[in-house]
Amino acid sequence: MNKEKFYITTPIYYPSDKLHIGHAYCTVATDAMARYKRLRGCDVMFLTGTDEHGMKIEDKAKEAGVTPKQFVDNIVEGPRGVKDLWKLMNISYDRFIRTTDDYHVKAIQRIFRKMYDNGDIYKGTYKGKYCKPCESFWTESQLVDGKCPDCGREVIDAEEEAYFFRLSKYADRVRHLLEDTDFLEPRSRVNEMVNNFIKPGLEDLCVSRTSFTWGIPVDFDPGHVVYVWVDALSNYITALGFMNDQYHDYEKYWPADVHFVGKEIVRFHSIIWPAMLMSLGEPLPKKVYGHGWLNFGGEKMSKSRGNVVDPYILAEMFGVDALRFFMLRTFPFGSDGNFTNELLIQTINTDLANDLGNLVSRTTAMAEKYFGGDLPAGGELTEADRELKVLADEATANYERQMEAFQFSNALAEAWRLISRANKYIDENAPWVLARDEARRPRLLAVMKNLCEAIRVSAILIAPVMPDTAEAIFQRLGVPTDGRVWDAARYDLETDGWWKTVTGDPLFPRIDVDKALAQLEQAKAEAAKAALPDLEIEPYTEEKVDFDTFCKSDFRAVKVKDCQSVKKSDKLLRFTLDDGTGVDRQILSGIAKWYKPEELVGKTLVAIVNLPPRKMMGLESNGMLISAVHTEKGEEKLNLLMVDDAIPAGAKLC
Ligand code: MSP
Repeated sequence: MNKEKFYITTPIYYPSDKLHIGHAYCTVATDAMARYKRLRGCDVMFLTGTDEHGMKIEDKAKEAGVTPKQFVDNIVEGPRGVKDLWKLMNISYDRFIRTTDDYHVKAIQRIFRKMYDNGDIYKGTYKGKYCKPCESFWTESQLVDGKCPDCGREVIDAEEEAYFFRLSKYADRVRHLLEDTDFLEPRSRVNEMVNNFIKPGLEDLCVSRTSFTWGIPVDFDPGHVVYVWVDALSNYITALGFMNDQYHDYEKYWPADVHFVGKEIVRFHSIIWPAMLMSLGEPLPKKVYGHGWLNFGGEKMSKSRGNVVDPYILAEMFGVDALRFFMLRTFPFGSDGNFTNELLIQTINTDLANDLGNLVSRTTAMAEKYFGGDLPAGGELTEADRELKVLADEATANYERQMEAFQFSNALAEAWRLISRANKYIDENAPWVLARDEARRPRLLAVMKNLCEAIRVSAILIAPVMPDTAEAIFQRLGVPTDGRVWDAARYDLETDGWWKTVTGDPLFPRIDVDKALAQLEQAKAEAAKAALPDLEIEPYTEEKVDFDTFCKSDFRAVKVKDCQSVKKSDKLLRFTLDDGTGVDRQILSGIAKWYKPEELVGKTLVAIVNLPPRKMMGLESNGMLISAVHTEKGEEKLNLLMVDDAIPAGAKLC
């Protein structure tokens, strides 16, 4: 029998900066859904990738002094880049598309031409507003306070010859799709789209640019590059082989079962994308789900706001599964959530260390103590066990319903209902009391087996979100592979022959909140420092100085006779210098941060001696000592210029 197919996608990411935990949110959710569907026996295609064209990337590459392709290669494939992050986060994608891939480029040219040939793309003049960071065109009426309605930043005027897509032609069909079907979820996003974009009148969309070159050229008019969103959205079909020969599974997987996307790009996915597909005469995706944002300090996490949370730091400190669990358990998928480190640690301590971790530790420890880890056949069942089974079956059914509706948080809540009940079951049945009485051994056995069974079913439910933890639990209980699959997620009161338990370290050690918060701060500061350039030198002065003016500066070798700190100043050192004239020269220099006075006595330095005298802290300074300055990892460094001691005091430097 053919397996049911399930095609799910994440947005493809802009590799303009390193990704943060907000980016990981959608990909982790997509991964959990893909794993869940695989568990259900579906033939899953999980696509992710990177969206590599556009003016922003061209600008960033220029800034970095590399080509756009070198720039994106580094962020996508380089250390701690996009692919590394997905590996770290245990993302089980089936395919990764880069919009700079050859096959995609060619397919986009064909797609553009097809829409041109069928009359849906035409040439005109674009006049309007453009938001560079969002790569979005806006009409005057769409701006909010004159700024980009998505990100609130400044927009620029733009006017150029351009191709347009007849979006207006599809307005009615798109409106029907949004209002009369369940294409877009959550439903609240439908009103937003209809009221903000469709009702004011859908205008034709500018789909080519001539003011920059980092994009896919329109093959029949090469001065134009294809608008990044046309390029990006099409990835969902080109990655399956649409209009190219790289892949051959378009027929099999398209239409997508769901596109998971962040709320600010719902507009592109629920209006422009279906209209493009209508123009191409291709089927529409079954669903677009617009999830909320992870905020930090009340604002969307983003590099430009400087409030990004580094997933590497969190994963290293708390483990990837804990992080995945936290994101999906804490924030309802359709709404925004406020990320805080305190909440993360609290969730790990409560749900993972206390509830799940303890349940597994207590159960395996007792199974070891009372049965040597080997639970034999038999045992005496009671009503309490049947109640536990009823609850487990209910939780599993609810979990399934919630997962099918992409409600990860509710689904996990169901798994935790079972876990909490199992913890309570331990207290109610008190195995340690039963163990004191040999006659109650059959009951003790049944209690231990019920606990193992409750944990086994819970582990199946959490596996899509915490794959490594589920695996570790199966191993501790000795669950064979056929007890780990979805069909086995039914609580079974007769589980003879399954349980060979082992004990081990706690799955989730309890975290000391204050200590962890301090460590996080330190790790963040270290990461920020590591991101700074190793070495920075002052920019060169453009302005020229004529030779005669330069020659007026009188540089001399001077010998340090004495050097003292200046009272009440943490910056100044007072030098008494032999400058070869026979009269001591006093110079004050702000270098106390870098030198101890005594280490300079006897050194031969360089000073400019014909500067006008200057008073500092009530002392007169006659000249200035010359130093070399540069910056290392953001820290200013200074080295006094010291010359060969064989050079006599007063020698002129020229
Ligand atoms: N390149 C486009 C998508 C093209 S899809 C055909 C893009 N890229 S992005 O890198 O800026 O964003 C990728 C996804 O990350 C978006 O869905 C966006 O909503 C999501 N997130 C970025 N920051 C986020 C949070 N702080 N919280 C949750 N999701 C966020 O848009």
